Amino acid sequence: MAILEAHDVSVWFRPGKTAVFALKDIDLVIREGDFTCLVGPSGCGKSTLLHLIAGFLRPSVGEILLDGRRIEGPGADRAVVMQHPTLLPWMTVYGNVELGPKVRSVPASDRRRLVEQYIDLVGLAGFASRRPYELSGGMQQRVAVARALANDSRLLLMDEPFGALDALTRETMQFELLRIWSLTKKTILFVTHDVEEAVACGTRVVVMTPGPGRIAVDRAIDFSRSVIAGAGGMRDLRAVKSTPAFVSVREELMATVLGFANRNGARCEPQ
Ligand SMILES: Nc1ncnc2c1ncn2[C@@H]1O[C@H](COP(=O)(O)OP(=O)(O)OP(=O)(O)O)[C@@H](O)[C@H]1O
Ligand SMILES: [Mg+2]
Repeated sequence: MAILEAHDVSVWFRPGKTAVFALKDIDLVIREGDFTCLVGPSGCGKSTLLHLIAGFLRPSVGEILLDGRRIEGPGADRAVVMQHPTLLPWMTVYGNVELGPKVRSVPASDRRRLVEQYIDLVGLAGFASRRPYELSGGMQQRVAVARALANDSRLLLMDEPFGALDALTRETMQFELLRIWSLTKKTILFVTHDVEEAVACGTRVVVMTPGPGRIAVDRAIDFSRSVIAGAGGMRDLRAVKSTPAFVSVREELMATVLGFANRNGARCEPQ
């Protein structure tokens, strides 16, 4: 079932005399349970598309529907995880994760169960009373994921959530997100620069072109299934990433992205 539909969406910005045509004629359908990875060179409009879906921006042309209703602004039905976790520094891990359910007026006893469940799910049981400054970058990002999940949104929007993490923590987080996705059956739209990350995690990889951003490739992928099905945890993720089939898809998509990266930027006048 389609959760999200973008129809003929175009966006331009006017920071000065010259307009920036950020997105052009975007058509995208996201179905329930999809783990859609959006990749493309810097400046191709990935964050712009995510911000439109989050309701932070409006399309210049076209419309985006969530469960058949036009998106007019931010809402609790969409949770956003950014590259740098935007946690409230004076609140504990528990307090940060509790925010969404509190705003939604979830009764106190249900709230406690929900918050503890998600803190546990992201592997932070025992850290509930810590404050963000007492946690590593990876742990803070786990809190941000738990907070997003506790909102019980229809769609989880993630904009390079692991971009600031070291390589080892990043791979751990990829595995953890796959595990969480398989347990919660969430629908995820995940923006990343990292083609390998996209091919490892996604059920689908969407590649965008720059200048202006359009969808060039929309490819179904299912490497994550064998990672989740295995009992070897992180070792299964590494094993899948080194199979010839995985390397072949990764290199093919990488060549596509690199080809687009050599093009000019998004500056041109809208029609
Ligand atoms: N508020 C804004 N005002 C003017 N131009 C903007 C604004 N937001 C984005 N842009 C421009 O729109 C284009 C797309 O930007 P966007 O941030 O969506 O790219 P991106 O694909 O997320 O890039 P990156 O991979 O570097 O994060 C860029 O040319 C950018 O400069
Ligand atoms: Mg971006």
